[in-house]
Amino acid sequence: MEVVERVAQFLEEAGTYYLATVEGDQPRVRPFGTVLVSGGKLYIQTGKVKPVSKQIAANPKVEISAFKDGTWIRIAGELAEDDSRDVRVAMLEKMPSLKGMYSADDGNMQMLYFKKATATFSSFTAAPETVEF
Ligand SMILES: Cc1cc2nc3c(=O)[nH]c(=O)nc-3n(C[C@H](O)[C@H](O)[C@H](O)COP(=O)(O)O)c2cc1C
Repeated sequence: MEVVERVAQFLEEAGTYYLATVEGDQPRVRPFGTVLVSGGKLYIQTGKVKPVSKQIAANPKVEISAFKDGTWIRIAGELAEDDSRDVRVAMLEKMPSLKGMYSADDGNMQMLYFKKATATFSSFTAAPETVEF
């Protein structure tokens, strides 16, 4: 399995992950759940109207953390927007519950992917493992 797929699978199995952004000197964190791998990239989804989207536009450095079965992951990297319709459609097909809030052409739905990321898998019982994607 490719590294990016392994990271995505971990986030999917955890169900919820926490996405941290920065706003000036203030960290901001909130639960997220959207995950998609397309073209070898890890995507997440948000709405352009949300503060989180505005924070990422101003400073694309983010960190994600999630926990599952005694292991936690931390993903640090930079996000970039992908404005292609295909990737919005793919996200809506993968997570149909999003269709209640978003559509591919609503001008709000935003797909963001990690341009470059470092992910670390950690547990209390094994040495941390770091991967790049
Ligand atoms: C379990 C769970 C998963 C969520 N997943 C997402 C998501 O993938 N994308 C998103 O934009 N909001 C998601 N939300 C909603 C955000 O957490 C919420 O809109 C938050 O306020 C956004 O941060 P902001 O207020 O700083 O913009 C999720 C909420 C929960 C409870």
